[in-house]
Amino acid sequence: MNKLNRSLLLWLVGLELLLPFAPASNAASQPQIRKQPFGATAEKKTVDLYTLTNINGVEAGIMTYGGIVVSLKVPDRKGKLQEVTLGYDSLDGYLKNNTPYFGALIGRYGNRIGKGKFSLGGREFLLATNSGESHLHGGNRGFDKAVWKATEVRGQRSVGLKLDYLSPDGEEGYPGTLSVTAVYMLTNDNELKIDYSATTTKETVVNLTNHAYFNLAGDGNILKHEVMINADRFTPISETFIPTGELRSVKGTPMDFIQPTAIGARINQKDEQLVRGNGYDHNWVLNRKDSSLSLAARVEEPASGRVLEVFTMEPGVQFYTGNFLDGTIKGKGGKVYQQRAGFCLETQHFPDSPNKPNFPSTILKPGQKYATTTVYKFSAK
Ligand code: GLA
Repeated sequence: MNKLNRSLLLWLVGLELLLPFAPASNAASQPQIRKQPFGATAEKKTVDLYTLTNINGVEAGIMTYGGIVVSLKVPDRKGKLQEVTLGYDSLDGYLKNNTPYFGALIGRYGNRIGKGKFSLGGREFLLATNSGESHLHGGNRGFDKAVWKATEVRGQRSVGLKLDYLSPDGEEGYPGTLSVTAVYMLTNDNELKIDYSATTTKETVVNLTNHAYFNLAGDGNILKHEVMINADRFTPISETFIPTGELRSVKGTPMDFIQPTAIGARINQKDEQLVRGNGYDHNWVLNRKDSSLSLAARVEEPASGRVLEVFTMEPGVQFYTGNFLDGTIKGKGGKVYQQRAGFCLETQHFPDSPNKPNFPSTILKPGQKYATTTVYKFSAK
């Protein structure tokens, strides 16, 4: 054997020996879950980050602080994985900044309650007015700022995280001790599924959601994303963002997303509702037969081909176009989030339902179980 052949042989043997130890590629034969420490809160509560990976290499990072979806990497039409949610690289970002609820679990009441009060069983309950004169997203310390207890969940074709939080009676002004669970599952069909459930010790109101901001291009603004919302009606708002109570037809208005339409196509029209919302920041009344899981919205980003479909059991969805982002937040990888850098599709009961008898009820009584599911499904075209 000459020198060249011998070294080639040695090299091949070496390669063979090394192969079992080669770093695993993103795509594994089984969905994976990995836990790592992610820091601590000001009260010295430790926070963990769990990374769920499915067999396609799709990755969801979820932390125990706020049940926040820290990261979501999904493929484009060529299979290229890219981060599609807004947020920060480290826990510090979420703790320090006045974060606009990036990726967070929202409770007890997602969205607004007018004047921060409601009556139940003849008693009036006062809540924080943390958004002008309204109560927003559960108050000063909503579920987005709680440290949740995490348990790993393994399914046949999915992997996930069960998050539990016990909200004491009177927390943020709400009646009843609320025992809350949110289960995040990442499936091999590239779905991030959230099962929310809750029980209470006293009659109360509940409206849970997730506040992920998406940008399917992974960069820039979201104006070219094409959106379909499966809703013939929406709930128009007053100057304080509180629904007037009317269920208004979208026909002939810039709120009509029955046919897929680019977000930027009408967003700057001098429409009363768009001016009030500073863009889209409204609740749509979903078309549905019953409360089974059904398609609420579909978003397609033409350049990457990435598609997001949102399925929910909820009667409404808040479509928010990052109108309050103003370039003051530096997020992942030093990215500056300008206005409309991301959009949210917050599945929910309608805003201010506790004060709107004609809206579907958000009341939960002792002995009843609150249970609702939302699925974010990713694909590429
Ligand atoms: C929600 C609201 C918006 C805004 C954001 C957070 O989506 O509807 O008005 O408050 O949260 O910035």
